[in-house]
Amino acid sequence: MEDRKKDHINLALTNRTGTIEKDARFIYEPLLSGHSVPKLPEVKLAGKAMKVPIWISSMTGGSGIARHINTNLAMAANEFGLGMGLGSCRILLESEKHLSDFDMRKVIGDEQPFWANLGIAQLEQMVEKGTLNEVTDMVNLLRCDGLVIHINPLQEWFQPEGDRLANPPIEIIKEVVNQLHMPMLVKEVGQGMGRESLRALMKLPIAAIEFAAFGGTNFARVEMMRRPSTDHELFEPMVYVGQTASDMLDDVKKLIEQGEDCKPPMLIISGGIKNYLDGYYFIKTSPIPAVYGMASGFLKHARDSYSSLRDWAKSHIDGLKVAHAYLKINE
Ligand SMILES: Cc1cc2nc3c(=O)[nH]c(=O)nc-3n(C[C@H](O)[C@H](O)[C@H](O)COP(=O)(O)O)c2cc1C
Repeated sequence: MEDRKKDHINLALTNRTGTIEKDARFIYEPLLSGHSVPKLPEVKLAGKAMKVPIWISSMTGGSGIARHINTNLAMAANEFGLGMGLGSCRILLESEKHLSDFDMRKVIGDEQPFWANLGIAQLEQMVEKGTLNEVTDMVNLLRCDGLVIHINPLQEWFQPEGDRLANPPIEIIKEVVNQLHMPMLVKEVGQGMGRESLRALMKLPIAAIEFAAFGGTNFARVEMMRRPSTDHELFEPMVYVGQTASDMLDDVKKLIEQGEDCKPPMLIISGGIKNYLDGYYFIKTSPIPAVYGMASGFLKHARDSYSSLRDWAKSHIDGLKVAHAYLKINE
């Protein structure tokens, strides 16, 4: 008690809020709730509920440490009731050698959303070869609930070994949606997408759009760093291009206001979500049901032991509950 009082005296003098900019996104209402929020609102994706509105965004498999990371992530999804998208499962189309890196249904359990992932370039090649049935086989093998399609033309362009798209991604997605009878969601990989791309996606019968917006992990930059430094001058300007989660949410709102004839049943708002307050703000201001997604935020902790990931996830979710109890949106 004595130590605590000493800490208060020292910290109070060095941590006055007057010197820190306030977070104007919220209005703090301290009188209207107790600490315990009974339950966070559930959100359903293709019929499966997330008990907490958080999505573990796709991160890659097929490397030595991937099984450890995916197992930790799937355990957290199971324990806390989150949804999870796998990283690109392309390697499984070639052989089942790496199946155990991705085969997480038994860990995550039957109740939580668990989705496979492929890139638009692979899907284009499969459309051309007439082999899309292999996607269905893969999704069934993994007992996934649906397919995440990632759209990454800048990443492919930057990659020395990258694929080139012959057709606009929207045409490829339409073909895949026509041929495959399973729930699908479409995402970028960290640079987001503009209003016209969103408009085109919102007309399709897909289960969700994941933003994967600009502001967090940036794969154009990651790929640039893999190139010789002599290439950086050429590629660097493109690294700063993209749509943030705020930009994208504004665009979705405008499209809905303009009376677009269709909208996805839900959004996964991701890309640069730094903490539970960012997530809370976005899901509360979304015009349609939404969860928020994080990749690198989870990765930092999932590389270590499950107990470190668990402690972080628990505190993060507690923070979200406190936000629900005491913070209103400053409209
Ligand atoms: C290590 C790593 C691997 C990733 N691999 C994939 C992938 O295979 N497929 C995909 O759709 N997105 C992939 N992503 C992109 C993320 O799903 C996410 O869209 C992006 O990282 C932005 O989220 P963040 O700012 O929370 O990291 C990866 C991200 C990271 C950090």
